[in-house]
This record gives sequence, structure tokens and C-alpha cells, in this order.
Amino acid sequence: MSRRRQIYEGKAKILYEGPEPGTIIQYFKDDATAFNAQKRGTINGKGVINNRISEYVFTQLQHIGIPTHFVRRLNMREQLVRQVEIVPVEVIVRNVAAGSICKRLGLTEGDPLPHTLIEYCYKDDDLGDPLIAEEHIACFNWASADEMQDISSMAIRINDFMCGMFAAIGIRLVDFKLEFGRLFEGDYSRIILADEISPDGCRLWDLESNEKLDKDRFRRDLGGEVEAYQEVARRLGLLPEDSAANEVVDLDSQRKKRGK
Ligand code: TMP
Repeated sequence: MSRRRQIYEGKAKILYEGPEPGTIIQYFKDDATAFNAQKRGTINGKGVINNRISEYVFTQLQHIGIPTHFVRRLNMREQLVRQVEIVPVEVIVRNVAAGSICKRLGLTEGDPLPHTLIEYCYKDDDLGDPLIAEEHIACFNWASADEMQDISSMAIRINDFMCGMFAAIGIRLVDFKLEFGRLFEGDYSRIILADEISPDGCRLWDLESNEKLDKDRFRRDLGGEVEAYQEVARRLGLLPEDSAANEVVDLDSQRKKRGK
């Protein structure tokens, strides 16, 4: 029997009702999908690593003044977050050409973009998250002009900060996806960063070798996805230096298997 009410199950996370009103528990699964869930698989221990990486990045972003939904990590796979109304727009920030923009515009993967590019997709799995223009967002009232101003300026600040954070550990931040939500306070709402930031939704390349340290390893059947995610966590100082790839102990899963 479930000890609490499940609110939503997504491709990589489950959301449960939180302990206090206005809170949610985010549970990070090992499930991986790509190409709008046409490809499905499991990356062992991914949920544990993404929980830690996302906690770390959100905490750092809070330190530079970006408001986020993150409250605190609860255990290896769960974190407490503030309940928001998700803006149905995925914000993609790109520094280097890779992935869908290469196909769409005939660019070569790895080419630096003349400047940082922000793209928007309509968050709708049935439609495959189509690329949209800001005009669509205004036309269909998915977000107001003021909200889009907040979202785009936060996305640029987040990119600047994260480029530096990853460069310091020998990683190029190629692109990434952000989601924002509305936090209601009385009659007003304000935009805060929501969802997660992890190698699931970022392209991260080793600065020297260009080795991919993100979900492209899964999308493109390159293998070594567990090791890649662990390498990112290790470089961020979230795993002991000497931890071998297979030594990460997922205590939560072990407890569940023992039926406790
Ligand atoms: P793309 O090249 O497939 O458009 O992806 C750009 C970045 O956004 C990449 O780092 C992966 C991330 N992303 C997601 O996290 N979720 C998605 O549904 C999509 C399409 C991209």
C-alpha cells in the first residue's frame, strides 16, 4: 500500500503529495526515455544521481538569487519541492549546435553558435513537444509577457552560471532544458525554476575529449550511461573521488527489495 497520494507519474519522476500544503515530493526513477518515449530503458542508479545533481545545481542557483522550487533532499531518491503550476513551455538554452537544431537547420554537431540561443517548445507529450515561437506563447496565453521576461532573463543567468560551474570541472555545457512554474502567494503568482537539472536534460561534453557525459549516451546507444552520470556527479564533488562506477550503493532500493 502506498503511504501517500501519488499526484503524477512522468517519464523520469513521480510526484507525491508533500507533508505540508503547498509541497510536493519528487521521486527520481531510473527509467530513461528518448525521442518522446519511443525509446525506453533503465539506467541503473540514475534516479539517485540525478536527485543529488539537481539538489546541488538548484542550491547553487538559489545562492545567486534564482528562485527555485527546491526545499530539501529527503533521501536518496526524493526531494521536497514547492508546489507550482508548471508553465507549459520547455525552455531550451543552446551554446553549441547539437541534437534537434542540427537536423532542423543543417548545422554540424559541435559548431559553436554565434551567440546563446533560447528556444521554446510547447510541453505536450501527445504532440511531441513541438518547437514554438514566443508569439504562440502570447497568442494562446501559455504565459504572460511579464512572465516570459522573467523566464528568459532567468534562463540567461542560469546559463551563464552553469557554463562557469561546468567549465571549472572540465565540462562544456552544450545545451539544456528548463521548466518554470507559478508559485501562488495570495492573489499573486511569481515565476520560479521547477523540475530538475541533471544529465537527463543537459548535453555535457568533456572539455578536452568531447566525450558525451549525458543522456545522449542512451539516446544514441553509446553505452556507459551509468559511468557518464557518475562522472558528472564525481566531478561536482558529489561522489567520493575513489568510488568505482559500480560501487554506488542505492540504499533505498535495497531497503525496498528487503520489504522494509
Ligand atoms: P534537442 O536537441 O533534442 O532539442 O534537446 C535540447 C536539450 O534539451 C538537450 O539537452 C535535451 C533537452 N531536452 C529535454 O530535456 N527534454 C526534452 O523533451 C527535449 C526535446 C530536450
